[in-house]
Amino acid sequence: MPGNFHKPYSCFLIRVYCTFTNRMQFDIHNIERIDSTNSYAFGVCTKEKVAEGTVFLAREQYAGKGYHQNAWLSEKGKNLTFSLVLRPEFIPPSDQFVMTQIISLALTDLLNSLIAQQKICIKWPNDIYVDDRKICGILVQNSIMGDKTDFSVVGIGLNVNQTVFPEELPNPVSIAEITGEVYQPDVILKQLLECIGERYENYKDNLDRDLLQKEYLDNLYRYGKPAEFKDETGFFIGQITGVDEFGRLEIVLSDGKQKKYNFKEVEFETDD
Ligand code: BTN
Repeated sequence: MPGNFHKPYSCFLIRVYCTFTNRMQFDIHNIERIDSTNSYAFGVCTKEKVAEGTVFLAREQYAGKGYHQNAWLSEKGKNLTFSLVLRPEFIPPSDQFVMTQIISLALTDLLNSLIAQQKICIKWPNDIYVDDRKICGILVQNSIMGDKTDFSVVGIGLNVNQTVFPEELPNPVSIAEITGEVYQPDVILKQLLECIGERYENYKDNLDRDLLQKEYLDNLYRYGKPAEFKDETGFFIGQITGVDEFGRLEIVLSDGKQKKYNFKEVEFETDD
């Protein structure tokens, strides 16, 4: 049960509290310092039956994990770095990209409510952008049992108050940089969990994959516009036409042929 976890790391539980959306309950475990909330959450979930809605929130991660073995760097206490445990039995293992889509859309809901002026969009596969700058990264790790998703660990790194970033990050931005205000990360977390609860429960009720796909594409960075990309053959002009059920990016080239890409097989030519 939450609260009784063994804590093999130098982390400690400050307090656990609950916040309620319409139907979902979240139990938030505050951790002062840890390697990675995703690694910790995944480890605990493999040992114990962790309740859906359990959140491991760290003030500091010293080995934060990004997508595809990248590191996630975040200044202590300034941002949100947390992992949420979900038990999406209604999402078959073959549809794993659905979870990334649900969470990405919840983040656009939150950011659209906080940042009025600028364009918020999803940069395939799992980044949230404000105009051409990255404000958030999502790392979903699933555990499959037979033909069911046993649990998902949804890791979110959202830049809230940080204004100075390491040089190696190509194009970071935070909510505070855009609005000029300082936020309480706990308050933003509660708002974000409400957005996630809303999107997640809606999908569970309706299982409307077409609507989810439409909303994802409507918010997708560079969707439907000719743009420059780079793959193993070099630079080319193409147009994003969709994302398939495995999360592969579909791009139509200028000769009309379609190509499908996994992550790291194609780059957007701009900033990163
Ligand atoms: C990415 O953009 O590559 C994904 C970044 C995900 C970062 C979050 S921070 C909380 C959670 N714990 C981790 O180690 N990673 C995720």
